Amino acid sequence: MKIIIMMLGILSLSFFNVVLAEPIVIKFSHVVAPDTPKGKAAEKFKQLVEERSKGAFKVEIYPNSQLYKDREELEALQLGAVQILAPSMAKFGPLGAREFELFDLPYIFPNKETLYRTMDGEVGKRLFSKLETKGITGLAFWDNGFKHMSANKPLRKVADFNGMKMRIQSSKVLDAQMKALGAMPQVMAFSEVYTALQQGVVDGTENPLSNIYTQKMHEVQKNLTLSAHGYLGYAVITNKKFWDGLTVDQRNLLAQAMKEATVFERGIAQQENDDSLAKIREAKTTEIYTLTPAERAEWMKALLPVHKEFESVVGKESLQEVYDIAAQVAKEEAAEQKPSTNKKK
Ligand code: SIN
Repeated sequence: MKIIIMMLGILSLSFFNVVLAEPIVIKFSHVVAPDTPKGKAAEKFKQLVEERSKGAFKVEIYPNSQLYKDREELEALQLGAVQILAPSMAKFGPLGAREFELFDLPYIFPNKETLYRTMDGEVGKRLFSKLETKGITGLAFWDNGFKHMSANKPLRKVADFNGMKMRIQSSKVLDAQMKALGAMPQVMAFSEVYTALQQGVVDGTENPLSNIYTQKMHEVQKNLTLSAHGYLGYAVITNKKFWDGLTVDQRNLLAQAMKEATVFERGIAQQENDDSLAKIREAKTTEIYTLTPAERAEWMKALLPVHKEFESVVGKESLQEVYDIAAQVAKEEAAEQKPSTNKKK
């Protein structure tokens, strides 16, 4: 009997050995709400990893700057205090990787197809290669959407920006963009924006609609201009030492889950932004205005010189590649004689 009990014990131990081993904890920190494209994709990644690894990995998600604010989270990643982040491309400057600010250039992406080909092609690879010496490995690029301007007064003409204090992310390109419009840019962590708008520390801001809605910015901004003047997306990154320390099988499992989470993320981004616009409309706190073609042309005239100004910062080669991709996409669309499937919203 004793022998049978011992054998059963050994059998059950070997059966559960994976579960009994301490799981590898992946702390995934981000600054936005859980019900955003990034927040939902982080959850998807967690679900896939935990299911497939049968408990060998545990993914802990910390949304809404719960653990760290924008800049702090990058330092925490380098120190190994967290394992995965997905900062917006505008936030890599303080790391010494200003090339990511290519994505901040106003009117750089005429449509999402150009954007995805840029992220998934040579430009994306080049950007990730810049991170390796900083102890960071790039895993994926996630989408959010085109940014729109908000304030407590209508922003239609370039002159409307004169002297406005506009919150920006820590990007020199965004700084130049606001100055080109005549505004006064103010760098501020995402977690502080709502209060700053509410208290009048800044007059306005720019963000995709899903961020504006989930942070309730529309409740403290009377005017929203659907300008789609710029883009906001994310580089999903990990601590290189952590990543290199995993076995090949473990890395493959995480990479595959990230690939699927990325497809999921890009698949929901547009809908999340459309839904947010509908909810902002319903809230009736904010007047929503779409630029006329003439107004848009005026904004473009003021903003396009920022490309040239930052050519050497973001990389002349990468900038040219985006222009080439955009031209190619336009050519293909013209050949197919169909309108862009990914209109800016
Ligand atoms: C984010 O989407 O991660 C935040 C963007 C911002 O700081 O405005």
